[in-house]
Order: sequence, then structure tokens, then C-alpha cells
Amino acid sequence: MRKKLYIAGCGGMLGLAVYNVFKKFYELKCTDIDINEDWLTFLDFRNYNDYLKDVVSFGPDYLLHLGAITDLEYCEMNQDEAYQTNTVSVENATNIANKLRIPLLYISTAGIFDGLKEEYDDWDKPKPFGHYAKSKYLGEKFVEKNANKYLICRAGWMMGGGLKKDKKFVNKIIKQIAEGKKILNVVNDKFGTPTYTLDFAKNMKLILEK
Ligand SMILES: NC(=O)c1ccc[n+]([C@@H]2O[C@H](COP(=O)([O-])OP(=O)(O)OC[C@H]3O[C@@H](n4cnc5c(N)ncnc54)[C@H](OP(=O)(O)O)[C@@H]3O)[C@@H](O)[C@H]2O)c1
Repeated sequence: MRKKLYIAGCGGMLGLAVYNVFKKFYELKCTDIDINEDWLTFLDFRNYNDYLKDVVSFGPDYLLHLGAITDLEYCEMNQDEAYQTNTVSVENATNIANKLRIPLLYISTAGIFDGLKEEYDDWDKPKPFGHYAKSKYLGEKFVEKNANKYLICRAGWMMGGGLKKDKKFVNKIIKQIAEGKKILNVVNDKFGTPTYTLDFAKNMKLILEK
């Protein structure tokens, strides 16, 4: 019998890759607040009772918590919503995974580091700057302290979602070109390591199965 995976916040760029990588091997329940695929059902994971009820009724072997508000500027302007979505919801996921005695896989970000060094590894101490990064790091800390069994995977600058899913750098550039802009608006004081969603999802599977 195939093992079951509940994937929360699966409607975005990484969610698509995770769905495609895992669907052949696992029975999936994929939820999101934005139902943009026929394989998604609705869940707002900020609501603990709804989240718990939905996961319990599916009875998964693993809980994957992918979703977040990933727009950095939006998080700066809407701090309560950012922490509710990116931190408190991760607390929900942790409590649910513990209740069901299943492992939790939480997706975090390389953005929790201060960017003063050229390269970072697991042993570097996070120093998040903006509210997006802080909200994600607080999620990490909660998982680390409270989850019975967990994995935290940090991604770099994600790419690979295609025109429909990518809300980030690559699509922002493509949109400007498609609009016929002769001058492109580009962040030019920041370096990042691209993370291809499909590679990341494949590695999530490898790590999970180890
Ligand atoms: N994109 C990057 O460069 C990057 C880099 C490092 C780490 N990450 C992390 O990787 C994960 C996936 O990122 P992504 O790029 O795939 O983001 P994404 O494309 O924005 O997808 C996130 C999904 O979560 C949904 N969501 C937001 N609030 C929710 C809620 N309350 N309940 C249920 N679903 C909710 C979003 O819906 P709406 O679209 O309606 O908000 C969206 O469909 C996130 O945890 C992010 O922090 C991303």
C-alpha cells in the first residue's frame, strides 16, 4: 500500500514540483487557500481546528507544510498577517504532526541569514532582517524545539514555476519584457543562489525517505 502525504500550501511554485515528484509514489492530499488546480482542495492553515480536522480525516504518514506568504514587501506592510501565516501556522502544523505521531517537513528559506558572508551552511547562525525572514525563522525555531520528528529544508531563490506559478524574479523579468518595456526594473544589489523547484522537490523526497 502506498504511503500517504498531506501537503499544506501546495498551490504555489514549489507545490507544483512537489506534487509532480511525489504523485507517482504516494497517495497525496494537497491543499491551499488558492484553488488553482483540480488536484487541490481548500484549507486555510491558519485555522488550527480546520487544519487538524482535514489532516486527521486523511490520516497521512507524513505532513508537509509548504505554504507561506512569500512576498517580502507584503510581509513588511502586513506584519500580523505575515506572522499568522508564516509562524503561527507552522506551530499548528507542529502540534498536528505531534498529535498524529507523524514526521513534519517544513520548508524554510536561506533568507534567514544576514547576507554578509558569501556562503552559508547549517552551522551558521541565522540573523533574519525583514519580517518575512523573521516569520520563517520563528517557524523553524518552533519546529526544532517542539516537533517530535521533523525535517527543515531551506531553499534559495526559487525558480521553475513557469508563467502560471512563478511570482518571483524570473517571471517579473519575463512580464516586463512581454509588456514591451525597454528599461527593466531589476534588483541589482543582491546576490542569490537559484534553487530549481524540481531539484528541490526530488531532494525533499530523498531526504524524507532516508
Ligand atoms: N520563492 C522563493 O524564492 C522561496 C525561497 C526560499 C524558501 N521559500 C519557501 O518555500 C515555500 C514555498 O514557496 P513558493 O515559492 O512555492 O511560494 P508560493 O508560490 O507563494 O506558494 C505558497 C502557497 O501558499 C499559499 N498560502 C498562503 N497562505 C496560506 C494559508 N493561510 N493557507 C493555505 N495556503 C496558503 C499561497 O496562496 P496565495 O498565493 O493565495 O497566497 C500559495 O499558493 C514557502 O514556505 C517559502 O517560504 C520560497
